[in-house]
Amino acid sequence: MKEKKKVGIIGAGVSGLLACKYVLSRGHDAIVFESQSTVGGVWTKTVRTTKLQTFKSFYQFSDFPWPSSVTDDFPNARQVLDYIQSYACHFSLIQHIKFNSKVRSMDYEGSSDDESQTWTVWSDECKWKIVVEDTVNLSVEAYRVDFVILCVGRFSGLPNIPEFPPNKGPDAFDGEVIHSMDYAAMDDEKAARIVRGKKVTVVGFLKSAVDIAMECSTANGIENPCTLIYRNPHWNLPDYFPWGVHLALLYLNRFAELCVHKPGEGLFLSFLATALSPVRWAVSKFIESDIKHRHQLKKFGMVPAHSFLQDINSCQLALMPDGFYDGVEKGSIILKKSSSFSFCKDGVLIAGEERPLETDLVILATGFKGDQKLKDIFASPKFQEHIVGSSDRVVPLYRQCVHPRIPQLAVIGFAESLSNLYTSELMCRWLVELLDGAFKLVSIREMGEDILRWDQFMKQYARGSYRRSCIGALHVWHNDQLCSDMGWNPRRKNGFLAELFEPYGPMDYASK
Ligand SMILES: Cc1cc2nc3c(=O)[nH]c(=O)nc-3n(C[C@H](O)[C@H](O)[C@H](O)COP(=O)(O)OP(=O)(O)OC[C@H]3O[C@@H](n4cnc5c(N)ncnc54)[C@H](O)[C@@H]3O)c2cc1C
Ligand SMILES: NC(=O)c1ccc[n+]([C@@H]2O[C@H](COP(=O)([O-])OP(=O)(O)OC[C@H]3O[C@@H](n4cnc5c(N)ncnc54)[C@H](OP(=O)(O)O)[C@@H]3O)[C@@H](O)[C@H]2O)c1
Repeated sequence: MKEKKKVGIIGAGVSGLLACKYVLSRGHDAIVFESQSTVGGVWTKTVRTTKLQTFKSFYQFSDFPWPSSVTDDFPNARQVLDYIQSYACHFSLIQHIKFNSKVRSMDYEGSSDDESQTWTVWSDECKWKIVVEDTVNLSVEAYRVDFVILCVGRFSGLPNIPEFPPNKGPDAFDGEVIHSMDYAAMDDEKAARIVRGKKVTVVGFLKSAVDIAMECSTANGIENPCTLIYRNPHWNLPDYFPWGVHLALLYLNRFAELCVHKPGEGLFLSFLATALSPVRWAVSKFIESDIKHRHQLKKFGMVPAHSFLQDINSCQLALMPDGFYDGVEKGSIILKKSSSFSFCKDGVLIAGEERPLETDLVILATGFKGDQKLKDIFASPKFQEHIVGSSDRVVPLYRQCVHPRIPQLAVIGFAESLSNLYTSELMCRWLVELLDGAFKLVSIREMGEDILRWDQFMKQYARGSYRRSCIGALHVWHNDQLCSDMGWNPRRKNGFLAELFEPYGPMDYASK
């Protein structure tokens, strides 16, 4: 008979809920620690106009479709949150969640840091001790579990704040500086109040930045234009139909993946990827030409120096809010490229400009420190070092999920894709097969070698942004690896042509 395990899950966003559901489905015990008072993670606090930027059919639990009442392809944040909450209720997950419970630290009890260096396979001799603080009464309690699933989220909690020279940071400025996370946490009325009638500067050019700039532009018009400071323009999309062709047909199928080099590919696939490189280039140019044309990027000086291929392989794509470039055209949004910026008393100093940009409020939409958040949760300095790896390598997670030297622990929700829910779900399914002993992990050395192959892939296509661990344009290949570990047939379509050209999505993995 298989061993029943006690599994501690940290976080009750999409990833934590999925983990809980699948762990329970195999008869294991699950206890979820969630620092907030509700489920949903990032979807509990978003800027007012946020919508899902993935087609809802791709952002869907494989056994719990969207309700028919949600007709929009891109539901709003409230609808997404309702959907996630319904999932939690439908599968009776709520009773397994300890709310207002913040995990302060974790340790793999009984093993020393030196000992962990000698392991050749995942150890299973010790238990994890999880120290949890009740955020209401501040009491602290310790729990012991056989396995931990870290679902603490990549894009929440710990903001990435740029570094500034001495005396040139936010403290030097008389106005207010907040992060997009703070703006998102405000209720609608407060968020409207804080920008209304103000000179607002937004920093960044990905999804949070363009959404917030659009809100400011709508609130303040040309009287108080919103300035957006960016380092690099990106190939942000007007929609998912470049020149009328669905993007999923160009990137989310097996044919598209044949055109790129893949980690662990054999000679034949390597040859094919090289032979098809003109197609890879042409598809990227095809999409770039559509975006250039529709957003008039040349006119606004916003043509990125890098390719669309690089942006999709680093998941650095945002769906532009409607009317963004109309705002630029009429002057309610001002775009300023700057390699760096800093603060002075009256505003923001932009590299190459003599006078400071006068401003009342600066919103840093500069992303999050997801890796630091993972690191901070471990008590052991060795595990802290292991989990993030070195900055010149990808975050070292085998199958984007487990660290070779951190036993009996998985991370779900770190690797990014164009539909993170789908990515998390298949990883949870892989994980419960591992928990059940349906397959065994390869040795620590082999896991390390596989991670290096992914490191090479990510550096080749995502270039400097390889630390984002984006599998967006190689999802099917990644899924194939998970399927083959689990003993599932990776080919999920009917017929050769469908297998080659039909996009893959969550429903393809609804059954084994
Ligand atoms: C505004 C916004 C919109 C997005 N839109 C899309 C989209 O359209 N498509 C897409 O694919 N992705 C999107 N994403 C990415 C998004 O992060 C994922 O889709 C997904 O919701 C992440 O879920 P998660 O459970 O992994 O993390 P989170 O939602 O961040 O959940 C993590 C949970 O862990 C809890 N937690 C963290 N630390 C601790 C601790 N120490 N102790 C206890 N609990 C803890 C947090 O409170 C939180 O509830 C969006 C992200 C944001 C910020
Ligand atoms: N569905 C939605 O509506 C929605 C809304 C918000 C967020 N999201 C998702 O949430 C995730 C996080 O998005 P995000 O936009 O908050 O963060 P992000 O994708 O990490 O983007 C961060 C931005 O800040 C810039 N930046 C970082 N450090 C900087 C510095 N020191 N100086 C100047 N600029 C700096 C980056 O510029 P470079 O490009 O030059 O590095 C980039 O433009 C993404 O997956 C996103 O898709 C989705």
